[in-house]
This record gives sequence, C-alpha cells and structure tokens, in this order.
Amino acid sequence: KIIVLDFGSQYNQLITRRIREFGIYSELLSHNLTAAEIKKMAPKGIIFSGGPNSVYDEQAFHVDPEIFELGIPILGICYGMQLMANELPGGKVEGANNKEYGKAQIRVQDAGAVLFRDVPTSQTVWMSHGDLVTQVPDGFKIAATSGNCPISAMANEAKKFYGLQFHPEVRNTEYGNDILRHFAFDICKARDNWSMDDFIEMQIHKIRETVGDKKVLLGLSGGVDSSVVGVLLHKAIGTQLTSIFVDHGLLRKGEVEQVMDSLKGKFGLNIIQVDAKKRFMDKLTGVSDPEKKRKIIGNEFIRVFDDEAAKLDGIDFLAQGTLYTDVIESGTDTAQTIKSHHNVGGLPDDIKFKLIEPLRTLFKDETRELGERLGMPSELVWRQPFPGPGLGIRVIGEITEEKLTIVRDSDLILREEIAKHGLEREIWQYFTVLPGIRSVGVMGDGRTYDYTVGIRAVTSIDGMTADFAKIPWDVLQAISVRIVNEVAHVNRVVYDITSKPPATIEWE
Ligand code: XMP
Repeated sequence: KIIVLDFGSQYNQLITRRIREFGIYSELLSHNLTAAEIKKMAPKGIIFSGGPNSVYDEQAFHVDPEIFELGIPILGICYGMQLMANELPGGKVEGANNKEYGKAQIRVQDAGAVLFRDVPTSQTVWMSHGDLVTQVPDGFKIAATSGNCPISAMANEAKKFYGLQFHPEVRNTEYGNDILRHFAFDICKARDNWSMDDFIEMQIHKIRETVGDKKVLLGLSGGVDSSVVGVLLHKAIGTQLTSIFVDHGLLRKGEVEQVMDSLKGKFGLNIIQVDAKKRFMDKLTGVSDPEKKRKIIGNEFIRVFDDEAAKLDGIDFLAQGTLYTDVIESGTDTAQTIKSHHNVGGLPDDIKFKLIEPLRTLFKDETRELGERLGMPSELVWRQPFPGPGLGIRVIGEITEEKLTIVRDSDLILREEIAKHGLEREIWQYFTVLPGIRSVGVMGDGRTYDYTVGIRAVTSIDGMTADFAKIPWDVLQAISVRIVNEVAHVNRVVYDITSKPPATIEWE
C-alpha cells in the first residue's frame, strides 16, 4: 500500500482515490504518525498531501524527521514539497510575491526522468500556493520549472524523494495521473493487486477478530451505506448482529417498507423496528440552526439505540455506515469542518459502545461496488445517497409536520418523474427542499400565498464535488406542474443551479 499523510488540503482524499484506482491500496492518515508506526505498516511509498499552511506558520504541521530515514520513497505535493524543502538540509522556502492559483505551464527538466517518463516536456498543471521552494535540499535537482515557479518539481533519485509544487491529483493537471502512476509503480514498485474482494475478505477477518463472540448492534438509517454495512456484518458474524431501524419520521415515502422487505425479508437480518417519530419531533421543535439540528438528530439516534440496547443483553459494539467523505468533511485533525455529518459529529462523548465502521475508508461508489459484490440487488445498492439526518435537513430552518409532508410528497413526485424519464442513473442525487419562504401566486381567480419548493439534482462521482444536473426543460416542467397541482400549500417551484463547491449538495 501507499499511505498519504494529511496536511489538510481539501484535495487530500483525491490522492488516495487516484492511487486506489490504480489497484493499489491507499489510505489517508494523520501527519502525526511517528516513523516507527509507519515502519510497522510497511508501506511501499509515502505521499505528503498539500495543506493550507505556510511552513513558517506557528501552527504549521510537521512530520517526524525520522520518516526521511526509513528508506521509503516519498512524494511531497505542494505543502508537502515545501515541508520536505524545509525539513531537509540545504532546502529553502519563501513566500511568493504573487500567490498562484490556477493553470500553469511547466517545462520538465532531465532530473525528473522517472516521474515524468513518457509525458511531454511542456504541459499544463494546476497550481495553488502562496509559498515557493527557492532552493532544493542537498542531493536534489530541479525536475520542472515554470515562469512563476522556477522550482515546480524537484527530485532526489538516489533517495527516491520527489516534490511537486502543483497538484497531480486534480483533473486540471493534464498528465497528473501519469506522474502519480510513475511514482506508484516505477518508483515505489507497488503492485496493482488490491481489489474489492480483498477488501471484503480483509474486513470480514477484521470484524471477526474485533468482535470475537460479542454482540454488535447496527443502526439502519434507511440509506445505502448502513444497508451495506448490515449485509457485510451479517456475512461476517451472522446472528451476533442485531439491527435497529429507527423510524425517526424523517425518511422518504415508502422507505421504511422497502428496507425492511429487502434486508429482513431477503437477507434475513434480525431487525428491530422502532417508531421514534415523536421523540425526534419533540427534540427538534423550535430549533432552526442547521448544525444544531444535525447534532440533535445524531444524538437522538444514539440515545434511541442506547434505550433499545438496554433491553438487549450484552451488546458491546455499535456499527455505523460512516464513509470516507463523512470522516473528511467532519474535520480530521487537519482538515477544516464543512458540516458535521451525523455519523461522525453527533456522537455524544459518553456512549458505552465501541464503534465499528467498516466503510470508513471507502468512497460512495466503492461502497456500491462492495454491496454488489455482496450480492445485494441493484435497486438497493444504486439508490441515491440519503443523508443520516434525512428530510430534517431538507426542511430549512424549523421542522414541522406540515413542512415534512410537503417535502415528502414533492420528493416522491420528483422521483417518479425522474424514473419515468429514465434519468435515475444519470443523476447522482435528486431531491426537493423547502426553504420556508412563501410567495404570491395566482390559482384560478384567486391570490395564493404559499410555499416554494426547490429541486436539487446533481451529478457527482463521490459527493465531494458536484455539478447541477442538466435535466431537460420538459421534464422539469412536468415535475413543476405536478408538484404545484398535487402538493397542498405549494405555488412555486425553483431549480437549484449551483455546483459544489461553492454550494454543498444539501441545503443544510
Ligand atoms: P453535502 O451537502 O455535504 O453532501 O455536499 C454530500 C453528500 O453527503 C450526504 N450527506 C450526508 N450523509 N450523513 C450522511 O450519511 C450526513 O449527515 C450527511 N449530510 C450530507 C449528502 O446527501 C450528499 O450525498
């Protein structure tokens, strides 16, 4: 495997992803790991990610200097390269006169031979930095230069240390994938023998080892992720798994039945269904701040488990369908918090279970592949992602029963129309939101003053970035007409045409 040390760049998980796409196992890990810990993992290579700091900041992140003595190839990207130049003797980093952000043209020099093998000497890369390496450390040569950044890449072929000032992991770097490939295969000599089947085997082994003869409780949220965890755990430990499906009243129409039919009916999971609608509503009444809502829903989830678990005997573990994106966006010790994803952020400090999160290192599409490999039907696996806090974050501001009904009913119409026009697989996620504003309309001869429903539909690969889906006008029109006609108290429908970033997919 190749490990990526996290210095806080929003692109860091992309590096891991690219490496995995090569068939090499890769994980994003804390920069606080010691050289001894890394040695024990025996990775074939180490990548230092980019990051928002300057190496001169007081709070700048460092690495254990012993890492450079392990004899393992290292690739430093952006901040990672500056860090290398700063830590290794002879190197020098300075603030650039102008911060550089965007496309740049580099010229490859001879020293970069292996890293830049078979790629054009002149190529476009993606730069995003404030500081520059102005002097390479002892033993290094300049591997590429550009107008604004004389040392765009550096190489110490003897030690197999490399630095790139630009980001090879983003698509805007024309030959980024080739460069990463050369590092992974030619320099680290990693082998492309990692597959989803290995992952399943590894996880089943790990789950059995962790759990022993103890019992596990799983919270089914109704979404793809927890369903996949359920089937995986069932395969690993069978009847030692008990699942609790909390109906918090924030699910889509028909969802409770669909999940129960499939997981209990077809896969034979032992599922306890709990009606907690009132509990959640009581806690949420009067709350309009999105982060508070998320935390309340996450917390209440755990409390419901706690209560249910108390009725069961000897449960030690709690399993969750936390994904990589949830972990990263909720803030690792280095990345900034964007939103508290409920699987991560809502956990109270005093829960008495140990956590099992077998999907913690997977992206959404990898989770789906895992589900398919486990024999789950594609209707279940290819359901669009659904957030843990459910419709609770699609009613903007305070949640009321009336508003939930509007979101639920309009969401069903949207889903029906998307299916009818065969767009389900093309659009990654689609749903309606209720911003809570009301506006004036005219129906028949009368004035109306009613709610606006927003349609959100995006294409994405992993939820980290997204584009608004270009749904044909006539389909949008059909959806709009049906929502206004069939859902009470709605007189206007709008379409969200923002990408992520700068917006997020959900509105809260
Ligand atoms: P955002 O809104 O952050 O959403 O762009 C990215 C993806 O994550 C889903 N999402 C969540 N999933 N728990 C989850 O399991 C959560 O708290 C949560 N919040 C957002 C969202 O639906 C989208 O697919």
